[in-house]
Amino acid sequence: MKILGIETSCDETAAAVIQNGSQILSNTVVSQIDIHKAYGGVVPEIAARSHIEAILPVIRQALDHANLTIKQIDAIAVTHTPGLLGSLLIGTLTARTLSILHNKPLYPIHHLKSHIYANWLDQPNPPKFPLIALIVSGGHTQLIYMQDHNDFKIIGTTRDDAIGEVFDKIAKLLGLPYPGGPSIAQASQNGNPHRYKLPHPKVPDLDFSFSGLKTAVLRAVQSELNLPISTPSSKLANQLTDQQIADFAASFQYTAISILVEKLTQAVENYRPTSVLLAGGVAANSLLRHQITESFQNRTKTAQKLQIHFPKNQFSTDNAAMVASAAYFTIKSNKTQPTDPYTLDIYPRQNIA
Ligand code: KG4
Ligand code: ZN
Repeated sequence: MKILGIETSCDETAAAVIQNGSQILSNTVVSQIDIHKAYGGVVPEIAARSHIEAILPVIRQALDHANLTIKQIDAIAVTHTPGLLGSLLIGTLTARTLSILHNKPLYPIHHLKSHIYANWLDQPNPPKFPLIALIVSGGHTQLIYMQDHNDFKIIGTTRDDAIGEVFDKIAKLLGLPYPGGPSIAQASQNGNPHRYKLPHPKVPDLDFSFSGLKTAVLRAVQSELNLPISTPSSKLANQLTDQQIADFAASFQYTAISILVEKLTQAVENYRPTSVLLAGGVAANSLLRHQITESFQNRTKTAQKLQIHFPKNQFSTDNAAMVASAAYFTIKSNKTQPTDPYTLDIYPRQNIA
């Protein structure tokens, strides 16, 4: 089964053709990062306008690279929630139009579901159920328990900021370029992760909170520079030395990742899954991958059976291959029917379950 996936929920315009949920026939991603960089973050109106310009050439390229015409596609899948309203609209309206014009079944897909299914792309040993997914993206931080395909239970969620968002904000504070995740990871390579002691939040159960950590970094920078706490965050970066920036980046990254690994460990103890997988843009972070591998390798006999899965790097951040994969496994699980292309709506905010 060949599915054309379409993704425009934030600042990547993407289309891909995936066979049977895991085989990549094509994968086209046009990133708007360079456009938004100048503003230090995604500007929703500019994102929507850029999607309009890119969407048709991107779909054309995905079909061309797969050596297929749209007639040879079995179904179309599109991200319809959650995301930026204007951005979601462009992909969804395009998918609806293609579905009507070419009489193809249309499947609306939740963006976080797609991030989870990135772990099935181009993987000889895909995850096994039951599993726990740690979703770490720009907009979400969640722990999801799955007993089967298309069966999602949220077991932990952030009470304030998402982890990717905090990487982006701390990068801005330190004068590092957008997107903050890769910038922080790079700056950290020259930094001492233990130079600044940052707090772990005390949040019950499997929930997360990152706003305290964000404020703690701000206060630590102000204190390091002997400035009052009223000093705006935008006035700090140019007073820091390169070494201080590297040490703050490394200390923040180390603490943020320790918090994620702590909660994931707690979730594994509570639920005893067969697999653990990482999903979302922050899944590209190599320290996070390393700490998760280390932490579960040194565990007791039963936990040693735990399989750990990471998406291939190009499928960690937003792409359409994962949308097509999610649609395939949703269709296979017999839990869904195609939607009406005349009425499919978008939802900027909606939970996965
Ligand atoms: O999943 P994604 O592409 O978009 C959303 O669905 O939100 O995630 C984007 C986020 C951004 O916050 C970016 O800073 C972060 O992923 N990110 C990283 C890395 N690469 C991207 N964070 C930490 N380390 C990285 N290597
Ligand atoms: Zn995403």
